[in-house]
Amino acid sequence: MKTQVAIIGAGPSGLLLSQRLHLAGVETVVLERHSRDHVLSRIRAGVLEQGLADMLRAAGVGDRMDAEGEIHDGCEIAFEDNRLRIDFAELTGGKTVMVYGQTEVTRDLYKARDAMGGTIIHNAENVALHDVDSDSPYVTYEKDGETHRLDCEFIAGCDGFHGPSRKAIPADRLKVFEKVYPFGWLGILSETPPVSEELIYSGHPRGFALCSLRSRVLSRYYVQVPADEKVDNWSDDRFWEELKSRLPSDVAADLVTGPSIEKSIAPLRSFVAEPLRYGRMFLVGDAGHIVPPTGAKGLNLAASDVFYLSNALIDYYRADDETGIEHYAEKALRRIWLAERFSWWMTTLLHKFDEEAFDVRVKRAELDHLVHSRAAQTALAENYVGLPYD
Ligand code: FAD
Ligand code: DHB
Repeated sequence: MKTQVAIIGAGPSGLLLSQRLHLAGVETVVLERHSRDHVLSRIRAGVLEQGLADMLRAAGVGDRMDAEGEIHDGCEIAFEDNRLRIDFAELTGGKTVMVYGQTEVTRDLYKARDAMGGTIIHNAENVALHDVDSDSPYVTYEKDGETHRLDCEFIAGCDGFHGPSRKAIPADRLKVFEKVYPFGWLGILSETPPVSEELIYSGHPRGFALCSLRSRVLSRYYVQVPADEKVDNWSDDRFWEELKSRLPSDVAADLVTGPSIEKSIAPLRSFVAEPLRYGRMFLVGDAGHIVPPTGAKGLNLAASDVFYLSNALIDYYRADDETGIEHYAEKALRRIWLAERFSWWMTTLLHKFDEEAFDVRVKRAELDHLVHSRAAQTALAENYVGLPYD
């Protein structure tokens, strides 16, 4: 088989890249290791920046998001019994975010790819990249016991943190920047009305907690847990008790509890791989970088990578212009590092670390500054709604 751009991974990066390229007349084939059902069973991010929401609309996949998603023009930062509203719209000249689950974004993208006859090969095993630094790279994979070869002109590595693409860069050319936090987030989804119309990020001496939502009848909550914690140790009752203990008392009093329909633990990590391009292979989304989820940036960064790379490839195919390809890594990395900084800052500010008394006082002062400084609130708001793409 032959295509112009081989895309590894059918997560949001791979599917959105495929959709944008197809609309511009560039051929793609997507190779995915799991089944479609598996891809659509993963509960992940919930907050979309305006840039991603606009890209989904432009790609013809914004209708359900606009009908069912919620526009949020603020969120709350809570610490012990204090609550501070960050008014995104007022602080950023009208910018907002869209609350709409990553799972639904992925479902909408699948539907659009199907409608346009896009090729997505599921259950592709042992995907391997070859000759990525030559003019004729190719990818091999196994399916139903047979080995297949996909020839291509470019490879987009959209295969997440554990995929093979990053490993195709020789070790002596790859530089990795990493910070692993000693905790994770235990998250649950429950068919209960959300405790608040807006997200609440809560820093507490017992640890961080987040109140989020998917709709008026579907809530998503998280609590910070030790990195080696096991989901099985957390009954629903234990989860609700712990969550309540970390929220301001008026919020805790309003919390409606019920059975969880999903419960999982995600580790927290900051990670950047440089470069994001090696020969004719590009790293996109989690394959190239990870942020801790506190700033809601993981999915949004994957989207900005797709924006830069799709534009670069479209310029190449339409106008024989390689400028975008040459500058993809540099452009994407600038925005990635800004999001890494913000995500690290939010994480440090709101989580419980094994830290010295001095650090605890500095964090308290940081929150004090946030409460009393419009400039500090503006800095949070402009990062949360998403920095510009250029
Ligand atoms: P992925 O969504 O990881 O997609 C990669 C795809 O590649 C997958 O479908 C995978 O099956 C496929 N793949 C992997 N290996 C291979 C292979 N060998 N061959 C073929 N295909 C392969 N962000 C937030 O902002 N908020 C959150 O609450 C949040 N929670 C998260 C929870 C978890 C458990 C994880 C892992 C991430 C979370 N994120 C969150 C981050 C956000 O979901 C990611 O940034 C986003 O999914 C990145 O999209 P992607 O397409 O780059 O990667
Ligand atoms: C959600 C996840 C996040 O990491 C975040 O910062 C906000 C919301 C969510 O899953 O709803």
